[in-house]
Amino acid sequence: MAVVRHDLVLISLDPPYRLGDEDVVYNLFGWAEVDDEAHPDVSVTVNGAPVPLKLTPNPNVREHFPGVTASSLFARVNFAELLRGHTPAEPFLLSVEVTSGARSRVFEYEVSEGWLQAVFGRPVRRRRIPPEHLQIRVTGAAAGQFHLTGRRVAEQIAGILARAGLPLGRHARILDFGCGPGRVISAIKDMHPQAELFGSDIDGEAIGWARANLEDVGDFRVNGPAPPLPFADESFDLIYSISIFTHLPEDMQHGMLAELRRILKPGGVLLTTKLDPGAYDLPDDVCAKGVNDGFVYWGDADATEGLPGFYRLAYHTEAYVRRVWAKYFDVLHVGSHDLNNTQDAVLLRRPNGRGGLIPGLASRLLTALRPKADA
Ligand SMILES: C[S@@+](CC[C@H](N)C(=O)[O-])C[C@H]1O[C@@H](n2cnc3c(N)ncnc32)[C@H](O)[C@@H]1O
Repeated sequence: MAVVRHDLVLISLDPPYRLGDEDVVYNLFGWAEVDDEAHPDVSVTVNGAPVPLKLTPNPNVREHFPGVTASSLFARVNFAELLRGHTPAEPFLLSVEVTSGARSRVFEYEVSEGWLQAVFGRPVRRRRIPPEHLQIRVTGAAAGQFHLTGRRVAEQIAGILARAGLPLGRHARILDFGCGPGRVISAIKDMHPQAELFGSDIDGEAIGWARANLEDVGDFRVNGPAPPLPFADESFDLIYSISIFTHLPEDMQHGMLAELRRILKPGGVLLTTKLDPGAYDLPDDVCAKGVNDGFVYWGDADATEGLPGFYRLAYHTEAYVRRVWAKYFDVLHVGSHDLNNTQDAVLLRRPNGRGGLIPGLASRLLTALRPKADA
């Protein structure tokens, strides 16, 4: 299988992506790769409104990206003038798009209440963006795209559910398991406002932030690394869990699969993700184990600041999921690079009948037998 590569879009705007009351008039600085340095084809829009730009050649970019030609860009933006007459969508997020030839990148800015009052002349509900270190903890970057990437994932979730005949809008109670500071659940709320949404994570800081800033989105809870989760049997119609089973040791995965089964209603659906061991540039021994055994937990992968030591990288083949996870769920779909950037979607359903594992008992047994996780 080919190794997955990420295509870089070489467009940058300077952080921080936050505007205060005093930033109603603001200087945007950045640079963009261009095809022709002498005639750069670069434009900038703010929530769709075009902004006048100053462009100058930028030879420094070539030092970091040999062979790349780039222009520096500068725009002095008066948001009150630019957005006069605009009806802001709520919750409001300022979205700056830079386009250079066929390339384009969006940068999101959180704005203050005073900024909104000054620009629109009335209070406007705003979308909050978590602090940079919480963004880095869940996505590896704080590059001004937290909600954009969350919306893409939410749209992929909706697409996978719709193709399976289980559309998002049909699910009333939904859990985002491993929600972090709410990247995906915020977009799910926008797409399905009637749903009762819950988020749960081991990261108390991320959950604290979500509770304080996303109270209009859902009910957020901290869970321990092992079962039980803080929810009653058969609580949910749908659980989605993006990039969680890609990080846990195998024994923890068994505990959580049984536990998620317990809190799903019979017939309820779990949509999660996996990584294929053959599709990434892994050390030879890690790759070989993953491909041969169907599962590998890469315990020497880099740790993530702020998360427990067990949180590393795990890879599953499709055959493993169909063999092992099938002990807990009916396997409805195993995708390929179809969810959360380059991860593989796994769509599972709790069988309607009560055969197989007794949900609560199974997860309690697995928890009792499991060695203690390092914290
Ligand atoms: C890569 S991040 C993804 C966050 C979020 N799903 C998203 O897509 O933005 C993985 C998340 O899993 C959480 N996590 C790891 N182990 C967990 C566990 N046993 N129970 C709940 N959350 C867990 C981490 O704290 C982290 O927030």
